Amino acid sequence: MKEKHGNKNKVVLTYGTFDILHYGHIRLLKRAKALGDYLIVAISTDEFNDIKGKKAYYDYETRKEMLEAIRYVDKVIPENDWEQKTKDVLDNNVDIVTMGDDWTNSARFEYLREYCDVVYLSRTENISTTRIKSDLELTNEEETKK
Ligand code: CTP
Repeated sequence: MKEKHGNKNKVVLTYGTFDILHYGHIRLLKRAKALGDYLIVAISTDEFNDIKGKKAYYDYETRKEMLEAIRYVDKVIPENDWEQKTKDVLDNNVDIVTMGDDWTNSARFEYLREYCDVVYLSRTENISTTRIKSDLELTNEEETKK
């Protein structure tokens, strides 16, 4: 069934893991919300991360709880597989799918242009979950040397 979001007329959807939330995520979400009126964030489930060979530090429910606390985010839905995007767009009356520009022209998103706009937003430089993890590992090693 198609979902209506009150009188919110422009619906934006983005995808990601959003593990160990950082300011690059926050800036992405702020700009995603500014593209419309209602922002849906689809976050990868732990099972989907397994398929992708990724392991999030925070589990799905915890990542969902944190994202729901962000003022720009109106709704969080699970991303279970690569194939669900068309259904997400149609079910939620999505006008724009947006991603960081690491996904520019990716076949994973370009086909959605048949159903909605696809917008790539520039990534914030010098920050990522991967970088935080590796920086903290270095810090731990330095600490244990003391
Ligand atoms: N993102 C961004 N700027 C960053 C990091 C992420 O704009 N510095 C965006 C990504 O482009 C994506 C969304 O935030 O649209 C969620 O990204 P995700 O892959 O969950 O975050 P990363 O920090 O890139 O995680 P990882 O290092 O595990 O890839």
